[in-house]
This record gives sequence, C-alpha cells and structure tokens, in this order.
Amino acid sequence: MTLRTCSFIFLIRNSFLPSIHLIPRLLYFCTELLTLKKNVKLSINVLKTLLLFLLISTSSLAQVSDSADQILFRSFGSEFLWGTASAAYQIEGAYNIDGRGKSIWDVFAEKGKIKNKENGNVAADFYHRYKEDIALAKSMNFRVFRFSISWSRIFPNGTGQVNPKGVEFYHNVIDECLSQGLQPWVTLYHWDLPQELQDHGGWANRDVVDWFKAYTQFCAREYGTKVKHWMVFNEPSAFIGLGYLAGYHAPGKRNIKSFLKGSHHACLAMAESGRIIRAEIPNAQIGTTFSCSSVDSWKNKSKHQKAAKRMDAMLNRMFIEPSLGLGYPVNDFPFLRKMKRFQLPGDKDKLKFDFDFIGLQNYFRVIVKRSPIIPFVWAKPVSAQKRNVPYNEMGFEIYPEGIYRILKQFSNYKSIKNIVITENGVCVKDNLMNGQVHDSLRIDFFRSYLSQVLKAKNEGVPITGYLVWSLTDNFEWTEGYKPRFGLVYVDYNTQKRYIKDSGKWFKKQLEK
Ligand code: FCB
Repeated sequence: MTLRTCSFIFLIRNSFLPSIHLIPRLLYFCTELLTLKKNVKLSINVLKTLLLFLLISTSSLAQVSDSADQILFRSFGSEFLWGTASAAYQIEGAYNIDGRGKSIWDVFAEKGKIKNKENGNVAADFYHRYKEDIALAKSMNFRVFRFSISWSRIFPNGTGQVNPKGVEFYHNVIDECLSQGLQPWVTLYHWDLPQELQDHGGWANRDVVDWFKAYTQFCAREYGTKVKHWMVFNEPSAFIGLGYLAGYHAPGKRNIKSFLKGSHHACLAMAESGRIIRAEIPNAQIGTTFSCSSVDSWKNKSKHQKAAKRMDAMLNRMFIEPSLGLGYPVNDFPFLRKMKRFQLPGDKDKLKFDFDFIGLQNYFRVIVKRSPIIPFVWAKPVSAQKRNVPYNEMGFEIYPEGIYRILKQFSNYKSIKNIVITENGVCVKDNLMNGQVHDSLRIDFFRSYLSQVLKAKNEGVPITGYLVWSLTDNFEWTEGYKPRFGLVYVDYNTQKRYIKDSGKWFKKQLEK
C-alpha cells in the first residue's frame, strides 16, 4: 500500500472562500500588466481610477473573508476544543540521551529505510525545546496539547527496568502544559515500539498484550493525577498495516501471518489498556484514534464496488468494530476469517471497550479499483495524480468533503458518544523568507475542511474538538523531513521556529 508516496504539489482552491483570496493578487497582476504596456490606450487618470476601485473592492473582499472565518470558528461554540497534535519520535530527538532505549524507528532508520537516509535522532529537538513549543501553542490560543509518550524512554527494554530520567521528562512536559493553561492529551502508543520487544516478535507476539498492559499501568499511575485525557493508540491500521504487511513503516515486515496476528493483538491490547486506565484514573476521558478515509469505487461496476468494500473494511472498520462489540468485518472482507486461528476462547468479549471518545484522523480519500495482483484485499487505490485531482506534497488528495463523509460514516455507530478530530492537516511546500512563511494554501485547506466538519456537527454528529496536525514541522516517518505539516516552520539547521501565516490565522480566529 503506497498511499504515502507521490511527491509534488498541485493544490488548487476548492471552495468559494479561498478563491476570494486570489482576487486581490489577480487584480494587482492585471494593473501591473496594464501599466507596463507602452501603447496603452487608457489615460493615467483612468488607470488611477481603476486602481482605486481595485483597492476598495479588494479590501472589502478581504473583510468579507475575515468575518466569514470568524463566523466559521464561532459556529463551533465556546466549548469546542481546539488544539494541536504531535508524536514522540517525530519531534523529540534526543535519541540517545538520558537513558532512552531504542525503538523500532531508530533501527528502521539505521537500516537506511528513510528517504535521504534521514532519521529522528534530532527531529525538532522537542526534548530540549518543549517549553518554547508549548508556549508557541499557547500563544496561538490553543487549549489542547496532544503528544505521545515514548515507551522506550520509560522502559528502555520495553519491560522491567524503569528509566527515571524519561519518566521525569514527561512530568516536565505535562507540568509545563498545565502551567500554561493547556490540557495535556496523552497518546500511549504512537508507533515507536521498543526494539527489544520487536526482537521478541513485536505486535505479532501475543505477549505484547501483557507488555502493553504493564506500560499502560505504569503511565496511568505515574501521570494519572495530572492527565485526564488519554488516547491508547494512534492509528492501529497504520502501524499494523504499514509495519507488518506493506513493510513501508517500521519494523518493515511483509508477512501476512504477522499482519493477522498483529491486528488481533493490537485490538486486544487497545481494549485492555482502556480498562486499566478506567481502573486507575477516576474521571479519565479515555479514547483511541483511528485513521479513516472515505472510500469510493473507481467505476460503477460490481467488481470495483466489492473491492471498495474490502478496502473500507481494512482501512476504516477492522480495528474499531471489535471494540464496539461487532467483531471483525468478515462479511465484507472474508479474508479476515483467517484471524480465527489466532483467537482464544473469550477473546471476543475482551476486545470490547466502551471508549469515552473516538479520535478520527483524516488525510485523504481513497478511490478503489479491483486488482488481480494485490493479494488478500484484491484492490488498489487509484492515485490522485492519475485522476488529475488536487493533491498535497505526499500525493494525498485534497478532498474536504471526505472528512464530512467519514464523520457521518462513524456517527452511524450508535455506541460512539463523542468524536474528536485528533489529527487533520496538510503538507505544502513552505518557503521561509525574511522570517515569514506565507502558506495561504494551508489556510485554504483548514478553511475548507473545517467548513465540512462544521456541516457534520450541525447535522448532529457529536464532534467536540479538532486538533491540527501538527504544531511544528517534524520527521514524517519514511518520508523524512521533506513534508512539512506544521503551523510553525522549523529551520532544521538552527532549530529556530517561525510561526507560519496559518499559525497566525489560527491565533486570530481563536482569540476571545
Ligand atoms: C498520520 C500520523 C501522524 C503523521 C500524519 C501526517 O497518519 O498519525 O503521525 O504522520 O499522518
């Protein structure tokens, strides 16, 4: 599955409001042309009048869009939670400092699997700059600061011996959030399994459920009095699918048996971890996050439609439905019946957990075609590039309606009480010039996606928050440092931070 692979930008404006922002630039361009033309028939006075008209009209258009943005943000209501999201390996760096053990991503990078042979050794140096970054989030008027705990910073070998320096680091991050008035939202697992555990089979070894339970219990006891919002996993379909089937993410396995076992163990661990947090922390809000994409069939033909159903089951349903007590979606994706071999008596009940909130993360839509060569799922995505539709630097289609459709799809599960968009964002080619980054394309992205989130909310989908991916630019897994998703630009040579126009835009919209 190479959904994260294409590599150049072709973003176009895709809603009415963004096109308003183009008008001033277009008009300015036209007047420049007119003045340049030697034999222009218009007198200088006519030009002046034209210019005046343009100035007046452009400034009023800018005001229209400013107030439209204000209306958009206010419509979410004052209780709505706005925040940013991040992940340990993508930002922390300090890979060999203060007793941290290796994770599968260190080893994957050592094997040269990352573009340009990059690694997360330094990343955005959050380990040393967390105070500055939390202050930046605060300055942009966000209320939630989502980050993940690196398992191998706490338990360098995954289990057993605790690393006090690592434990202290997350206390410092949490305390800094609290003192700045930001809610710390903690993800327990954002893909960086301790390498020692991988050496024992990782997610494909059923013991991982116990390893993860012990790690959960430790974190809940250690930080539970200060942290009330917990997310067990970040996107299990990604870390299992890309890590054990596609081999594109760490640990780089391509093994169907490991994929099936890993999927089941992840589902079990997710529910068990939820139960531990419930037992350990009074009033905790317990969630977990899922990547999700609206899936459509390439053509109106039964073979493509069936392929789209299988893809939907694999990408959107197979990790959430067991936790809702629905089991694996074997009817639409019969191949999953093979998981039975790895299930023990009583597992079906153990897979259930009543999460307080579900985190949805949306980056692209998927158009699916039947494929005779992709095994098991017999389906493949048709890239945005081939379909000649707008896409971002990583080849992800820009399709704001997709977030609306996925919200509606998940709201059909009646037992889901509360949805938070725990990640959404876009990578564009940012240029730092004189300390500024004019990323209007990113602003357009957020404007159009947020309009769709609001539409779903207004239709009754229980959405209570939206977290931007990401606060700062960071290490984008196998793609390395090239894709920039941050509201804050990071100059990796100096580690200096610069708030992009999109960051300033959020700051303005979230002002009280
Ligand atoms: C999500 C991941 C996150 C980041 C974004 C771009 O799938 O959860 O870590 O890589 O994609």
